Amino acid sequence: MSLPFDLNASSTQDTKPTLKDVWQAQLERWYAHPGLYRWSLASPLTRWLTRRRTRKLFDLMAGFVHSQVLLACVRLDLFCILHRAPASLAELANRTSLAPNVLQRLLLSGVALDLLEHRSQDRFGLGPLGVPLAQHEGIAQMIEHNHLLYQDMQDPLQFLRNAWSGGMAQYWPYAHEKNAAAMPEAKVEVDQFSRYSQLMAASQGFVVQEILSSYFFDEHRCVLDVGAGKGRFVSELAAHVPHLQFKMFDLPPVLALAREGLHAKGLSDRVSLHPGSFLHDPLPQGADLITLVRVAHDHPDAVVLQLLQKAYDALPLGGGILLAEPMAQSQQAAVQGDTSVDAYFHFYLLAMGDGRLRTPHELMSMMKAVGFTHVELVPNAMPIHAQILLGRKSKCLPSNSEISVN
Ligand SMILES: C[S@@+](CC[C@H](N)C(=O)[O-])C[C@H]1O[C@@H](n2cnc3c(N)ncnc32)[C@H](O)[C@@H]1O
Repeated sequence: MSLPFDLNASSTQDTKPTLKDVWQAQLERWYAHPGLYRWSLASPLTRWLTRRRTRKLFDLMAGFVHSQVLLACVRLDLFCILHRAPASLAELANRTSLAPNVLQRLLLSGVALDLLEHRSQDRFGLGPLGVPLAQHEGIAQMIEHNHLLYQDMQDPLQFLRNAWSGGMAQYWPYAHEKNAAAMPEAKVEVDQFSRYSQLMAASQGFVVQEILSSYFFDEHRCVLDVGAGKGRFVSELAAHVPHLQFKMFDLPPVLALAREGLHAKGLSDRVSLHPGSFLHDPLPQGADLITLVRVAHDHPDAVVLQLLQKAYDALPLGGGILLAEPMAQSQQAAVQGDTSVDAYFHFYLLAMGDGRLRTPHELMSMMKAVGFTHVELVPNAMPIHAQILLGRKSKCLPSNSEISVN
């Protein structure tokens, strides 16, 4: 029987507990002790710890309500309205056609979540978390689109038993349908490609910013962006590094959507389009850097290895690969208490198809497995948007010290 997902967990026969196991079991016993809660609240030295843990648990329980508050604010366009000018409850009730006593609950919840803020004369304005929502259309579009995921997950056990039957799987035609590009239009509507490509273009800004501020492209001559979508990354990189030439590779219906935008930006002479599927076609040659932005996580290990191999084959000696996407948090980051993107992406990618979230270490191992050397994780300011990996096609073998793993 073939399994639809990659299972990388290694089972071990050795059941002898490690020192860490013993320590974790001890901690669990302390946490479970009935007196610990009251004891820890009695002392200022421990009270903050118990408060923080209780708060985190409450937030987990309330998460659905929080995300629905966010969605309601987006659907009522409150962030844009309040960005133009603070407004009173009565004014907002008038604009949204909601009863003031009901709308008030939403506004106060928005204030509690730092999305909104109280302003003078009983008005409401944007809070610190509301400002980016008014400025970046892509965030609002992602929030609206998440609704599909949350609908799919309404019954989480049902979802786990049959993850690909919902709206999210429909939304991404290529993620579980290997012949999406070649399918007759009756089965995969051109509209479907246009819908996800539009969302990707709108949401790619933060990722592009991370890449452009973390990697110096000047040494390159020609960049091939694989899974390029409508070409937002290519367009912004073209403005950033004027000497670069580009190739874009994506499914034919997607590149058909990209053509007009590139022409309007005056990039037709610098960008050549290469429609195809990396499942069936080789990648075009001639670029000295290949980029994979938010592509690998959509696919299972076998496809990612095949894609990396094709990238390796298409590059000249000395050429490079840059892979950027959200990655699973390292244990070190988890210990430091960094907010993790893992739970969201594990479920998002499960609902979408047969891709998965990988750690930088897993992706680096895959890059090395097909022959890339000098594989490294490039530090960037906001790993929540994407982490960035680089590799080289070189004759020299890397020394182990060159491989840094987060
Ligand atoms: C999640 S989107 C990312 C798009 C863009 N790189 C970005 O970050 O916004 C993945 C892209 O890979 C493309 N893609 C998926 N399967 C493909 C295949 N077999 N061959 C070529 N492109 C593919 C999709 O059409 C889509 O444009």
